[in-house]
Amino acid sequence: SAAEKGGYDYFMLKEIAEQPKAVADTLLGRIDGSGSLTLDEVRISPRVLREIDKVVIVACGTAFHAAMIAKYAIEHWTRLPCEVELASEFRYRDPILDAQTLVIAISQSGETMDTLMALRHAREQGSKVLAICNTNGSTIPRESDAVLYTHAGPEVAVASTKAFLTQLVACYLVALYLGQVRGTKWGDEIRAVIRDLSSIAGAVEQVLGTMEPVRELARSLAAKDTVLFLGRHVGYPVALEGALKLKELAYMHAEGFAAGELKHGPIALIEEDLPVVVVVPSPRGRSVLHDKIVSNIQEIRARGARTIVIAEEGDEAVVPYADHLIRIPVTPTLLQPLVATVPLQVFACELATARGNEVDQPRNLAKSVTVE
Ligand code: AGP
Repeated sequence: SAAEKGGYDYFMLKEIAEQPKAVADTLLGRIDGSGSLTLDEVRISPRVLREIDKVVIVACGTAFHAAMIAKYAIEHWTRLPCEVELASEFRYRDPILDAQTLVIAISQSGETMDTLMALRHAREQGSKVLAICNTNGSTIPRESDAVLYTHAGPEVAVASTKAFLTQLVACYLVALYLGQVRGTKWGDEIRAVIRDLSSIAGAVEQVLGTMEPVRELARSLAAKDTVLFLGRHVGYPVALEGALKLKELAYMHAEGFAAGELKHGPIALIEEDLPVVVVVPSPRGRSVLHDKIVSNIQEIRARGARTIVIAEEGDEAVVPYADHLIRIPVTPTLLQPLVATVPLQVFACELATARGNEVDQPRNLAKSVTVE
């Protein structure tokens, strides 16, 4: 009913709008007054966490994209090797797991059969399993050693939005917590990022306030067949997520690529007026990455692409090559997906509406996939 949708036409719109609160709720009570993390609910002892020598993350769909981003955060802040695998592929390749492996299973519903089977396999090999889940008391947290709940609230729309942002928050918390417990040379950076996380809900809110041009752009592309998405580093999984949203909702051919892979094949797809969304990393800090993606944008534009550039405020280097420019607030590099994903959700939702599709219940899809 309209009341359930809180005045919005679709649950998806409501859930996109709820993201600042979902993010803030997922952080609530987990950062103490001194700026340290307290994750008491993660009932795996610091001693066990200090002995871990590898992290493996399993998930499906959007949760898998959160896992890909988590890998960057975990490896950077903990120096632990981290593998990420589609849950449906995981157990069939006889993965190397033991008691020193921490397996993280990410699932909004907590009922995804592929993810459940992957975590059962991991536990049989003696690994500890930590679930990141949005549904209290669901099967995946019940069968795990510990759970860190995301506090997105119920997500009704089939296309995941607020659950994804809160999965990212939970992944950052786990990465930072592992760094804190194990002690790394990034102590100062970890403290600074914890501070930045505390104010990130405001940045998400800020993005939501600037989405009208994105909706307009989406409507103007309603007759297109294909949209490509490019990113590097944590922008690459964001590109994959943007493409998944468009497939699910707009039933368009949409593909995400690591921008550095372009020249190894996908650049052949570029033709006159093809819309290409590019997620640009911050020009600060890791500026090599930024410069590389700016040349990627130049390359595709020279071949006729219509460039839709998502870039940080104050990033002037992209301006000459952007046919459409979507600004996002300045954030630490690893946290950028929390703000960069939002325009892609709005874009897909508006394109689906413009094409006359059912936004909350896309064809052929179910909210939770309880078969393998
Ligand atoms: C997301 O928009 C999808 N509907 C889908 O990929 C989903 O993320 C996937 O099926 C995993 O679901 P889960 O998080 O409930 O395990």
